Amino acid sequence: MAPQRLVCVTGGGGFIASWLVKLLLSRGYAVHATLRDPSDPKNAHLKELEKAPENLHLFKADVLDYYTLTPAVEGCEGIFHLATPVPEDKVVDPESEVLDTALKGTLNVLKICSAAKVHKLVVMSSNAAVDFNLNWPQDIMKDESCWSDKEFCKENGDWYAVTKITAEQIALEYVVENGLNVVTLCPPLVFGPLLQPTVNTSSKFLIYVIKGGPDVMNNRLWHVVDVRDVADALLLLYEKKESSGRYICSPNHICTKDLVALLKKMYPEYSYVNNILDVDQKASLTCQKLLDLGWEPRKLEETLSDSVECYEKAGLLRGVDGHPCRLPHLFRLACDQ
Ligand SMILES: NC(=O)c1ccc[n+]([C@@H]2O[C@H](COP(=O)([O-])OP(=O)(O)OC[C@H]3O[C@@H](n4cnc5c(N)ncnc54)[C@H](OP(=O)(O)O)[C@@H]3O)[C@@H](O)[C@H]2O)c1
Repeated sequence: MAPQRLVCVTGGGGFIASWLVKLLLSRGYAVHATLRDPSDPKNAHLKELEKAPENLHLFKADVLDYYTLTPAVEGCEGIFHLATPVPEDKVVDPESEVLDTALKGTLNVLKICSAAKVHKLVVMSSNAAVDFNLNWPQDIMKDESCWSDKEFCKENGDWYAVTKITAEQIALEYVVENGLNVVTLCPPLVFGPLLQPTVNTSSKFLIYVIKGGPDVMNNRLWHVVDVRDVADALLLLYEKKESSGRYICSPNHICTKDLVALLKKMYPEYSYVNNILDVDQKASLTCQKLLDLGWEPRKLEETLSDSVECYEKAGLLRGVDGHPCRLPHLFRLACDQ
């Protein structure tokens, strides 16, 4: 029998990471998942995953602390680095809230991978590191050569985007200087069923669209991907020897009004966001590089229906008296770009 392949996932209890851990276990990998607090009930779902009792080990680690990460990486042939705060509220102190974790955290992971002679590191970046570039011609699809304009994002107070751009740049520069095998994935808005008991920021976006509330939305083009397809893409990048550089992972785009219309057709019983301002559409993105590698994403309709069914089961679409649903601040910013 071939020896079991051992990999590490940072931030293993998060929305996307949980699906990745599930996928890895189902494919016979042994997994080290890092968590800031393994005893927190919000991470309990990991222990319930199939094959978790024999093949999943949880490590208490903060990516800001090199020495807590080391035992989790020891003996691993590959690392998936996903741990990054995705703030729901307005960022007041960018250094401590997002920049430190993403930048020092990514550098720690890179150094540990070099020291442990890890075979491949897959770094989770974001569409936020690709898409916010006003100089890109409107009539040309954005590909992996397009980078978001960091200064523009800073001026807009979009610190999450600044963080993702900088962390991805650090990772790709490290490849050149240190010869580590690193690839990056840039997903847009990620929807889909939740494995974890808490609700992450991108799922709150979709819940807001369905429930509606006081925040105005722009009728901009949103790029959307299914969380299960993101997990597939991460594993594909890891397993394919020929993968290199960055990969856009945006199979679907839809503007706010069309998203509301599509959801209403499927689920007419919800109130939906109804204050939507018209804006100019932006150039779209191509994920041909990832499709050429063999990625087969789902249709948007399947993602939406599986998301809504999961939210319904969890009671997330019920109204709470005196607590209007709010659009996470991150997307209120994106509305203005
Ligand atoms: N969801 C999307 O639409 C989307 C789109 C593009 C890219 N991404 C990227 O995908 C990754 C996962 O995002 P997600 O949507 O799954 O969000 P999530 O559920 O909020 O997961 C983020 C994870 O990062 C962990 N984390 C934060 N700071 C940490 C630190 N200092 N040390 C260790 N772990 C830390 C969190 O752990 P705690 O539970 O301990 O806080 C959490 O598990 C992030 O890199 C994000 O930028 C997400």
